[in-house]
Formats: sequence, structure tokens, C-alpha cells
Amino acid sequence: MSQVVHGCTFHNTDCIKGARTHLDDDSVDLIITDPPYGIDGDKLHRHYNRNELHVVDGYVEIPSDEYPRFSREWIGEAERILRPGGQIYVISGYSNLVHILNALQETNLQEINHIIWKYNFGVYTKRKFVSSHYHILYYAKPGRRRTFNLQCRYGLKERDASGGSLNYRDREDVWLIDRQYKPGQQKNKNELPDELLIKMIQYSSNEGDLICDLFLGGFSTARVAVGLNRRATGFEVSDEIFSHGIGTLSEIEPGYLCDTLRVPDAGQPKNQGKRWTEREIQHLLERFRQIKDAGHTKKDAVKELCAEFERGRFSIERILREHHRP
Ligand SMILES: C[S@@+](CC[C@H](N)C(=O)[O-])C[C@H]1O[C@@H](n2cnc3c(N)ncnc32)[C@H](O)[C@@H]1O
Repeated sequence: MSQVVHGCTFHNTDCIKGARTHLDDDSVDLIITDPPYGIDGDKLHRHYNRNELHVVDGYVEIPSDEYPRFSREWIGEAERILRPGGQIYVISGYSNLVHILNALQETNLQEINHIIWKYNFGVYTKRKFVSSHYHILYYAKPGRRRTFNLQCRYGLKERDASGGSLNYRDREDVWLIDRQYKPGQQKNKNELPDELLIKMIQYSSNEGDLICDLFLGGFSTARVAVGLNRRATGFEVSDEIFSHGIGTLSEIEPGYLCDTLRVPDAGQPKNQGKRWTEREIQHLLERFRQIKDAGHTKKDAVKELCAEFERGRFSIERILREHHRP
């Protein structure tokens, strides 16, 4: 069964079969996904949600002995549906991390970063260290330029009170992000916090891009994607979880998160007001052609060139206009 919400289609089915049926090769810009952990008899719901009445029933787990094959199959589908230059973030605990890493290595996807997400409310233990992190495996499909919006959250020159670069700190590969506490609300067993999803979506996509989550759970990826004016799609095998997720997604307004985003201060571009040399103009025109050939819109190309040439938008647009680059 498939359902359309806010113009986006979601499928209540197994993601491997579902992707083969519903998603074309090279059709998705970004995948953010959090597969089941394959821990037999896990008690994550007790640790994370305290009151089990607030956990939506129906979570489908993968038996641990099937995990290697299962990982290879869904990651194979993820590689197929990603467009060249498209990116994937896989969130994984440590127990079955090796199988996810092995499956990724069997593809042509390229590793960009291995991120550690450190969260609060780790699983409490007395005879060993408290586990309070997840792994986020950030990979890209080769063949085209990747979207990476360098100054989407902090300008390169923005500093904290002690002079440290805010942009550098935001781009370190250890992320300290708290789990979202939703007292009294129903949620999926291990729902991802909005803040984590917002960060991945801001850096790795633009408005209008298609974002897929192969394991929708509480539809958190879809909600944040639509909240940031991206398109979303995905799969959830459990009927109960799917219908609960569809319900929560229907309640939001597309773009509702845009006004909550911090506006970065990109500062005055270093080369603003400087005369263009003939060499620089030729270089600009060549880079514009390359970015357009890679399939990006003119708007995105201009944004990219502003950062590369450290000049303002009007100046870049004027040169393109004078050289008849529509
Ligand atoms: C870790 S949860 C996802 C949590 C989600 N990211 C969130 O924030 O709520 C994994 C989800 O995958 C679903 N699932 C398990 N096997 C699946 C399959 N083969 N295809 C699609 N969904 C599956 C489970 O029912 C569960 O809801």
C-alpha cells in the first residue's frame, strides 16, 4: 500500500522489494536511514522511552543471523537508486556495524566521513562503560559533484567568544546532539532527533531535492525533509508504525522548519569590489559550465561560485550576463 502526503509518496512495504518496484535507478538525491539494529530481544524501548505505553507497537526487527545478507541487499538498492553525486547517511549502533561497513565496501560508494553521534541518556550499565554514541556512515555515489553547503549554518568567519571558528566546530566529525524528549507523546522506539536530521539535510541537499528513508519508523526523516521544503519518500514494513507515521506527517506544514534555522553570517566576500581580470573571468565561465554540466541549477551554480571566487552574487551574475550565460 502506498500513500501520498504533501505530494510525497510513502510505501508500507519491505524496502528491498519496495525500492525495486517504486524507485528508478539514479532517482534520489539523498538517503538518510536508520536500519533496525538486528539485536535479538533488544530492550531499547525501555531505555529510551521509559514509559512503554508511549512506544508505537509493531517494530520489525531483523534476526541477527540474517543481518549480513539483509544489509548487503538494502545497501545494494540504496546504491542503485542514488543519483551520481547523491549521498547516503546510515545511522548504526556498534553491534552490527561491521556488517554495514562490509556491505558498503562491496559497493562503489565512496566514504566521505565516519561520524560519531554522541547523545544523552546512554544505556545505563554498572560493570562496563556507558554506551552513548552511534556511528553515522556518510558515503557518496561517484560520477558527479556532491552537494555540500559549506556555509549553510555558520559563515567561515564566524567566531565564538574565545575566537574559535563556529563553522569548523560544526563540521567536526563528532556531533553532540541530545535525543529529543517528548513527554507524553507517542513515538517510534528509537526516533532520531530533528536537530540531527536538520544538520545532514542542510549540508547535503537543496530545496526541492528528493530525500529517501528506507526505514521510515516514526517518519522523522520525512517530517524534517518536508519541513525544510525538500521532497521525501520511503518505506516502512510495519502497518501500525506506517499508519502512525503518516498521521504525524499529515499534521505538519511543508516548510515549517525554515524559519527556525539560524541565518549564517557569510560576511562580506573577500574579493568584493575588486576588478575582474580576464583570466579570472575565463575561469569563472569554465567553472559555471562544469557545474551546470553536472546537472545543477543556475541558482545553485551561482551560490557555489560566490563561495569559490569569494565575490558577491550580483557581481557573478553580471559577468555571466555580459558573457551571455543564461
Ligand atoms: C531504527 S527504526 C527507524 C527509526 C526512524 N529513523 C525514526 O526516527 O523513527 C527501523 C524501522 O525499520 C522498520 N523495518 C524493519 N525491517 C524493514 C524492512 N525490511 N523494510 C522497511 N522497514 C523495515 C522497523 O519496523 C522500524 O520501524
